[in-house]
Amino acid sequence: MASFLLWSVAITAFFASSAAAVKPACPPKFPWEQIELTDTAIANSNPVLFGFGNNAGFSQCKAFPGDASWPSPATWDSLNRTLGGALIQTVPLAAPCYRNWPQYDAATCQYIREHWGDPNLHINDPTSAMFPIYQGRTCMPTEDPDSSNCTLGGYASYSVAVTTVSQIQLALNFARNTNVRLVVKNTGHDFADKSIGAGALSIWTHKLKDIQFLADYDCGRYRGPAFKLASGVLTEEVYKVAEQNNVTVAGGECRTVGIAGGYIAGGGHSPISSLVGMGADQVLSLEVVLPDGRYVTANEDSYPDLYWALRGGGGSTYGVVTSVTIRAYPKIPITTMTFAFTTGPNITADTFFAGLGAYMRYFDTFTSAGAYGYFLVVSFAPGEYLFQFMPMWANNMTAPAFNSLVTPFLTDLANLGISVTPNITEYPSMYTAYTNTWPGPERVGTTDSHAASRLFPRENFTPSKLNETLAAVRYAVERGGILIGYNIRAAPNPSVNQNNSVNPAWRKATAFFLLAASWPANATDAQIQAASKTLTTDWMERWRAVTPGSGTYMSEADINEPDFQREFYGAGHYRWLYRLKQEYDPTGLFYAPTAVGSEDWYVTGQVEWLPTQNGRLCRKPEGK
Ligand SMILES: Cc1cc2nc3c(=O)[nH]c(=O)nc-3n(C[C@H](O)[C@H](O)[C@H](O)COP(=O)(O)OP(=O)(O)OC[C@H]3O[C@@H](n4cnc5c(N)ncnc54)[C@H](O)[C@@H]3O)c2cc1C
Ligand SMILES: *[C@@H]1O[C@H](CO)[C@@H](O)[C@H](O)[C@H]1NC(C)=O
Ligand SMILES: *[C@@H]1O[C@H](CO)[C@@H](O)[C@H](O)[C@H]1NC(C)=O
Ligand SMILES: *[C@@H]1O[C@H](CO)[C@@H](O)[C@H](O)[C@H]1NC(C)=O
Ligand SMILES: *[C@@H]1O[C@H](CO)[C@@H](O)[C@H](O)[C@H]1NC(C)=O
Ligand SMILES: *[C@@H]1O[C@H](CO)[C@@H](O)[C@H](O)[C@H]1NC(C)=O
Ligand SMILES: *[C@@H]1O[C@H](CO)[C@@H](O)[C@H](O)[C@H]1NC(C)=O
Ligand SMILES: *[C@@H]1O[C@H](CO)[C@@H](O)[C@H](O)[C@H]1NC(C)=O
Ligand SMILES: *[C@@H]1O[C@H](CO)[C@@H](O)[C@H](O)[C@H]1NC(C)=O
Ligand SMILES: *[C@@H]1O[C@H](CO)[C@@H](O)[C@H](O)[C@H]1NC(C)=O
Repeated sequence: MASFLLWSVAITAFFASSAAAVKPACPPKFPWEQIELTDTAIANSNPVLFGFGNNAGFSQCKAFPGDASWPSPATWDSLNRTLGGALIQTVPLAAPCYRNWPQYDAATCQYIREHWGDPNLHINDPTSAMFPIYQGRTCMPTEDPDSSNCTLGGYASYSVAVTTVSQIQLALNFARNTNVRLVVKNTGHDFADKSIGAGALSIWTHKLKDIQFLADYDCGRYRGPAFKLASGVLTEEVYKVAEQNNVTVAGGECRTVGIAGGYIAGGGHSPISSLVGMGADQVLSLEVVLPDGRYVTANEDSYPDLYWALRGGGGSTYGVVTSVTIRAYPKIPITTMTFAFTTGPNITADTFFAGLGAYMRYFDTFTSAGAYGYFLVVSFAPGEYLFQFMPMWANNMTAPAFNSLVTPFLTDLANLGISVTPNITEYPSMYTAYTNTWPGPERVGTTDSHAASRLFPRENFTPSKLNETLAAVRYAVERGGILIGYNIRAAPNPSVNQNNSVNPAWRKATAFFLLAASWPANATDAQIQAASKTLTTDWMERWRAVTPGSGTYMSEADINEPDFQREFYGAGHYRWLYRLKQEYDPTGLFYAPTAVGSEDWYVTGQVEWLPTQNGRLCRKPEGK
């Protein structure tokens, strides 16, 4: 950081003495961002494999292993040499559990079985993603090494553990010039497994870990504290450095989600969103390798159209982001509250839902005060229900102020005969609140459930619409749906640029609800298909019906969502995003399920309601 400050002073002095109106390239690049691929380097190696441009010939399908057009071992070797040895021949994470892989090893397998639910296991693997049903479940951890043969399924064939921009450019140009499918993997958290794909070359951003605090950032129209984050940085890593510098940043509630990858690309919601807006709203500038291989900066002054699209238009669509610069805020006190209530001798199911309604009536009051609520509603036996805060979280608020805010709500609950024992705790900062509230990693990697989601506009919780909203929620929960609720808004914030591609439905919402359907661990494909269909077409249809014109959050959404273009992006935004996709990625180098332009492609061998990335990627014939 010290060397950056010196550098910044030197540059400022230089420009002060020349043209006052001109600012230096802002913000400065990380050292590895300055290692770029040059035209000379390409001319001296292999322009056919590594050349820039969007001039790849038209092919109906991407090349697939076994095809005559699939690069030969010698060609992959040539890529590996050019990359300085960073090419990885991928191995399924659970291969050590199977006798048909040379990696077979009972002890390693046991470790993988025990840690399969830990996000870190998947984050540290070049190709694993956290929702194995969309990989095809072709290599699940097992105790019986002979039960079946493990295969790659939807995992990429090769991965590049990139550490420089030139490696990203080489891999990307290679994939485009050889017609090999390209995927980008950061952590693998996406609900639709948007980071994997059969027969793909994967760009793995995990090793890009720089965090730079810019105490007095001064570029474009913003001056103040900011962070420049490399694309492999995790939420918990930046929160920790923010704490050390007495500032607060917007990131996820989950410890291990990436910040600069899918989180910001998808919009990004944060425990502090009700105070400062979406994750994507905080972005001042991004560095990105475009589909033609060129490396550019996107901000208000440079590629403003991409600056708009990369903040909300979804991951893996317009290029590979190598770093983002986001604004930071002063340290704020946080007060949290936990309690739970259930149906019981004195609380009927009707009273339980009246209690939920009592909370919902305050959704707008709470988010307008900058607060966020995270809660669970579930049926634990027929007609028996649980409500639990995980927790309610108020930003920039001390305990006394919090007490005044929630007292009317607690009184309403008491008047319904629901007595609760709130635990209200004040913390001096976001980091202390965060580490005490969510001390461990969340569980991932399961194959026995699947979530859909919906943004609920504030009018859903006004007296005239509350009953209808509650009825739709109750319908799903009564039938076994698990509701993970967020009382949250994307706060208006004039101090940042909120003109971005974040789904406009966020701007009207005071709630984001996830709804999961579950099934037994040994469920057949037919059972999973049936449960997924019920979730999408029955339970969720009722949620859509009470929230006309709203939508949902693409990064925590149903891969089967009908009309995903409108629901994930908003119809108006989608038209512009699609046009930009044609402009910047005319050859369709970047594809991910439900990403902008993905409707022009399909993966072969799919069954309804259970899509996977385990197949060849092909263009849909014109007009389909
Ligand atoms: C347990 C859990 C908790 C979560 N909590 C939150 C939360 O609190 N708030 C929230 O907003 N979201 C949350 N999410 C959702 C999360 O934000 C998304 O899954 C997000 O897409 C993850 O991004 P990633 O880069 O970490 O993961 P990945 O799955 O690796 O990537 C997601 C998408 O972005 C693309 N991508 C990744 N890096 C880049 C890059 N550098 N350039 C271009 N494209 C890239 C990938 O190709 C993929 O399409 C949660 C998810 C899980 C599973
Ligand atoms: C790439 O080269 C490195 C270093 O020589 C080697 O360890 C690695 O196995 C190679 N990768 C592939 C896919 O051959
Ligand atoms: C695994 O593959 C081998 C070789 O093709 C085959 O003989 C064996 O039956 C397969 N095992 C299972 C469990 O399918
Ligand atoms: C953070 O604030 C504390 C208390 O005000 C102060 O002692 C410390 O020096 C600050 N740290 C930084 C890096 O500014
Ligand atoms: C939002 O940004 C885009 C891209 O720069 C620009 O074309 C548009 O005019 C902006 N809209 C508003 C309302 O400022
Ligand atoms: C139910 O209500 C009765 C009468 O008010 C009270 O005595 C009893 O303790 C309550 N039971 C529970 C579980 O709250
Ligand atoms: C927190 O509240 C204080 C005092 O009300 C205010 O000055 C400050 O701007 C707020 N901070 C944020 C980040 O909103
Ligand atoms: C209240 O919550 C805090 C923070 O989680 C915890 O440390 C404390 O033990 C809780 N108090 C009670 C009485 O449960
Ligand atoms: C909503 O339901 C409650 C309880 O059933 C009822 O008292 C109230 O009149 C209803 N409100 C509207 C607007 O229908
Ligand atoms: C799954 O397990 C349950 C309980 O062990 C059993 O009743 C059911 O038949 C099994 N289902 C399948 C599809 O194997």
